[in-house]
Amino acid sequence: MQSPSVTQRAKPPVPHIRCLSDPDLLNPEVQAPGKHKSNERLQLAHRALLVVEAPSSRNGRKIKHFLNSLRIDVKVVSKSKTFPPLSSKKSARYAVIVFENYNSYLKLDSWSRQLIDKYCRDYHVGIVGFIRPPREEGTHVSFVDGYQLTIQYKLELEDIKLNFDSYVWRVLKPGEVWKGFLPGKWAVFHSNHSTYQNLAYSRLSSHFLEFDASDDSYLHGFKYVTSVMDKGEIDGIPKILFGNDLNFWLHTVMMVDTLSYLSFGKLELSLDRYIQIDVDDIFVGKEGIRMTVDDVEALVATQDRLQKDVDGFQFNLGYSGGFYLSGNDDEDEGDKKLLEHRNKFRWFSHMWKHEQPHKFPDDYVENSMRLNKDFAKEHKISVYGQYTVAPHHSGVYPVHEPMYKLWKEVWGVKTTSTEEYPKLMPAWQRRGFIHSGVMVLPRQTCGLFTSTIFASDYQGGLQGLDTAIQGGETFQTVLTTPISIFMTHLSNYGNDRLALYMLESLVRFIKCWTNLRLLSLPPVELGFKYFEMFPQEKEPVWTNPCDYYRHKELWPVNKTCDRLPDFIVVGPQKTGTTALYSFLSRHSSVTSNKPSLKTFEEIQFFNSNNYYLGLDWYMDFFPQRKKPNDTILFEKSANYFDSEVVPRRVSALVPRAKIVVLLMNPAKRALSWYYHMRYHKDPTALNTSFHDIITAGEDAPSKVKRLQSRCLAPGLYAQHLVRWLDYFPAKQIHIVHSDELKNDPVSVMENLQKFLHVEPQINYARYLRYDPVKGFYCVVLDSGQTECLGKSKGHKYPPMDKASERHLRRYYKKHNTNLSKLLASFNSEVPEWLKQELKEVTPGKS
Ligand code: A3P
Repeated sequence: MQSPSVTQRAKPPVPHIRCLSDPDLLNPEVQAPGKHKSNERLQLAHRALLVVEAPSSRNGRKIKHFLNSLRIDVKVVSKSKTFPPLSSKKSARYAVIVFENYNSYLKLDSWSRQLIDKYCRDYHVGIVGFIRPPREEGTHVSFVDGYQLTIQYKLELEDIKLNFDSYVWRVLKPGEVWKGFLPGKWAVFHSNHSTYQNLAYSRLSSHFLEFDASDDSYLHGFKYVTSVMDKGEIDGIPKILFGNDLNFWLHTVMMVDTLSYLSFGKLELSLDRYIQIDVDDIFVGKEGIRMTVDDVEALVATQDRLQKDVDGFQFNLGYSGGFYLSGNDDEDEGDKKLLEHRNKFRWFSHMWKHEQPHKFPDDYVENSMRLNKDFAKEHKISVYGQYTVAPHHSGVYPVHEPMYKLWKEVWGVKTTSTEEYPKLMPAWQRRGFIHSGVMVLPRQTCGLFTSTIFASDYQGGLQGLDTAIQGGETFQTVLTTPISIFMTHLSNYGNDRLALYMLESLVRFIKCWTNLRLLSLPPVELGFKYFEMFPQEKEPVWTNPCDYYRHKELWPVNKTCDRLPDFIVVGPQKTGTTALYSFLSRHSSVTSNKPSLKTFEEIQFFNSNNYYLGLDWYMDFFPQRKKPNDTILFEKSANYFDSEVVPRRVSALVPRAKIVVLLMNPAKRALSWYYHMRYHKDPTALNTSFHDIITAGEDAPSKVKRLQSRCLAPGLYAQHLVRWLDYFPAKQIHIVHSDELKNDPVSVMENLQKFLHVEPQINYARYLRYDPVKGFYCVVLDSGQTECLGKSKGHKYPPMDKASERHLRRYYKKHNTNLSKLLASFNSEVPEWLKQELKEVTPGKS
């Protein structure tokens, strides 16, 4: 029996894009992509300076996001603000300068203008400028003083073509004509000076009021120059000017080439674009929306055609065997046909019944994976087991550890893909990461979902789909993303076969308008390629699954996000962190992490390889709260303070956590650390005197130099605090002065409780008692006895020799001065030791 949607099916739309450069059409000439890289050794950073009209300006934001989507780092500055330093150590910090409004460049005050122009000339930096329409009504012509250039504003234009001979084009393939009205009001350029090269031409819209019908060339001649290059013959600064903003699709491709051209290839993108197409839900679709025999044949035929344009192309079919032959008669024949053609495709496993692993017990998930594996065996499907995809992104991110484990056990999975890392939106920020040996690649969307069955289901119908392909969102994704993995669904290949229409049209459009080379690779090779391109992404950045609604839905219901610290004592080492930890743990409303087998009271998650063990591993150190806020959770790991990566990782996972830092004289801290190493029988510390360690020079043995760095670097307090301030507001950071903790712990604990908002606030005078034998305060137990820290804390060693004291005073001088300035932002008083140090190094000053 046939379902109505099958019998009533109209003919699927047929891709209709033709290039002017198609051999059987006009203009078979082909221009080789421009070469932008220079042999000169130019010192340009991979960064752009963007001058916006105001921080909130819409166009400014659009330009910034576009540059970011190309992975170009952007420094944004408002036109009214002072420019940031442009160069450092004889190299340019910005490879190009972009003006959201070129007029703002022309109207810069003379000091800023000189600064920018000199920088551009000295470092061969070019300027990109967008022309914004002036406020005055009607069209308007202005002459740009000193530049032999006339700009005419607010024209309405239609159709556009590019200067075929310009060497700016690299990604863009000139030769096509874009037909239709150009969005918005346009500025056009006119000049006879040889410094100018016209880049794009358009013609006046026939709707335009001032259109002169008596002059035929208005209609037929492309005589309006919408974009121009100034080679810099007049002022030594190359510039590329656009007669409108980036909202016109062609301007984005022109911008890609502009950035590359003006930066001598520094901001150049590869011409290679890898594409992977996954067809999800094989056998899963509901009866009536699945593939029939004809659809399967169309899939095969399209794959054959695509293979000519996309090197190595093959559809990846993700199957769930549990739904085999569950459609109507026509569709069941379609299932069988798919199996007949099984060897033409690359198959990957889904779950047996498309279940989301994070919602089921581990043994059920394992059984589902194995049933799907048995199905493949029974039906002679040779599955590419190293790639898989989880239904609805389940378990990929946030990571569901059992799923990764079973993937590897059952299938030997090495690669997967998701849209959920770090977040679904904005799409251009999606990234990859590696966890537990599985490469997770970012996946893109092409607007085709399970429910996009007919063209009318697409937003804006077939025209909407065409817009996305012809310069719109889908095209932009391929333009800006070196490796695009698109997820489509079985239903997009039956019915109106929208996926086939989309793919063929997209490939043709890219071929018409760009020199991009379309390629495809098996998923694991694509994974290697991805992390070869972006090695910095290998490391994951864990975020709180409950901070984002989509992640929360993918987090197992039996798990909480509550087992995370409310505050962290970050060190540095030897400043009294263990004493503080034990004092805090004495409070009935404060709970520390469980001890670690390897590192005792410290977890050392954010600073070490433990980070790669994942969130579950970390959360397991914290008790489950019985009810929200019933206790304050904390951990202390004294190495966090001076680690490069820790502030960023902590703020990603627990952005609202409070941070507690302890500070003491860094010279004394260094001595205490040295004796700590000797106590732990470090051979280098045992064989080298303190003075020799701290004064070791370049030619010292590497072991000594390593020890020196670990001994002295944590004491560069200001430098580390500034890094914490990059990620946390000062009011979230509390400073404890170690001397006060040692001598007057009761008032330290009083202040700390206030900062942490601990309830009830207790009087620590009842819980801490000075122990004359230990020489330190110790915790008073319920039994009334005191419990002091072990032998390794507060041990006896000789005082520092005078020469070392002098050396370290000089060594820390600048850093201590910086610290004294920084302390004010934490509302912290300057401690006695610091006053003393500053006095000693600035004789004569109080
Ligand atoms: P020394 O052992 O060099 O004296 P950390 O726990 O961060 O490694 O710091 C150890 C230092 O804490 C000790 O260094 C000691 O001086 C100091 N400290 C402060 N209060 C203490 C206390 N109540 N008990 C023991 N040590 C304390």
